[in-house]
Amino acid sequence: LRPSSAGVYEITQRVGQAEILPGLRTQVWGYNGIFPGPTIVSRRGHKTVVRHRNELPEPVVVHLHGGRTPAEHDGYPTDLVSPGSVHEYVYPLDQPAATLWYHDHRMDHTGPQVYKGLAGFHLVHDDEEEALPLPKGERDVPLMIADRSFAEDGSMIYPDVHSDFISGVLGDCVLVNGAPWPVMEVTAARYRFRLLNASNARRYRLALDPPPPGGASFIQIGSDLGLLGAPVAHPGLQIAQAERFDVVVDFSGYPVGQEVTLTNRLGQDGTANVMRFVVARKAPDDSRVPGKLTDFRPLSPSEAVAERTFTFQRGGAERHGTSLWTVNGRAFSPDHIAATPRLGTVERWTLRAQNVAHPIHIHLTPFQVLDPGPYATGWKDTVDLASGDQVEVLVRFDSYRGKYVFHCHNLEHEDMMMMANFRII
Ligand code: C2O
Ligand code: CU
Ligand code: CU
Repeated sequence: LRPSSAGVYEITQRVGQAEILPGLRTQVWGYNGIFPGPTIVSRRGHKTVVRHRNELPEPVVVHLHGGRTPAEHDGYPTDLVSPGSVHEYVYPLDQPAATLWYHDHRMDHTGPQVYKGLAGFHLVHDDEEEALPLPKGERDVPLMIADRSFAEDGSMIYPDVHSDFISGVLGDCVLVNGAPWPVMEVTAARYRFRLLNASNARRYRLALDPPPPGGASFIQIGSDLGLLGAPVAHPGLQIAQAERFDVVVDFSGYPVGQEVTLTNRLGQDGTANVMRFVVARKAPDDSRVPGKLTDFRPLSPSEAVAERTFTFQRGGAERHGTSLWTVNGRAFSPDHIAATPRLGTVERWTLRAQNVAHPIHIHLTPFQVLDPGPYATGWKDTVDLASGDQVEVLVRFDSYRGKYVFHCHNLEHEDMMMMANFRII
């Protein structure tokens, strides 16, 4: 997407028609009527203004996920843009190069509104990243992975909002950039894929089949909020809702003509098949993955000035006779502040998941996981917790004061009130 002459990105949120399944029309709610929405590309420290016009029949809210954004532009769940009105979001983007995404965040309605199509990429570039010899241009490809279910006529099926979603809404068909089981022609060279799991409720364990001869499927170079200090090789990747993995895949070892499948080892049938690559020809490739990507300084627990514990569980509050999903036993209320960290400090938060798995996302503030395991290295904004799990994160409150939310990014759990506020003072 290109900005207008005044340097403003114009997005109209409207109903659109897409051909997702061959020969069938699917109605989507799209940014500019398309799903995924247009990709916005910004530079670090250059203010980006996005003007959203709401031509949908319902109120919307836009959140830039991973953005270091002043509170009034962060898309607080009750800062509604009503039908027929326009809202300008201003993003300073004073943050390292990273793969961000924007999506709907309307209180109680985020799940259905994102499901209908309100999600898009917003990439941030900077000089440091551009100086690296990583794959670029046509070999730098954002991939938005999201599952959906379709009726016979092609319409998307989102179940009744009053049903009791334990695991959230799972689709039976995986889409990549809005297409089912797509095929991408590649040259026998390195590619950079910015993987985003934009699903409401599904997590994936991704692998290449067959794996690259003599190498790991994925060389991870970045995480949610930018480059890792050094690359990490993975035979497979587990990716929870809202997480991003920036990876390099080397197709040069495959013979020309080889078909390579991106599969989901946690899925079956339509949810096991993600996409295909076909190695079409040999090509020169001067890219490589350097051993050092950026200066990454691990935070130390001794820097933490406060410790807090948040338990994410089902129960503790009710609505319409069903148990709500709570944080420390409370359902979301815009008025209750669960934490008041001080600007310029680091805190140690213990996040605990009960009943089922919960991917926990904290707005605005980057964090590091203390004992990160294979999939949670680097600067994160979302961390996945298995049921019964607990993780410790060091959260750095380094940008703005104000009220922000943190919540489960299973969007049905979020809509069932598994969200809380913190206010940076
Ligand atoms: Cu990706 Cu609060 O959201
Ligand atoms: Cu966010
Ligand atoms: Cu959850």
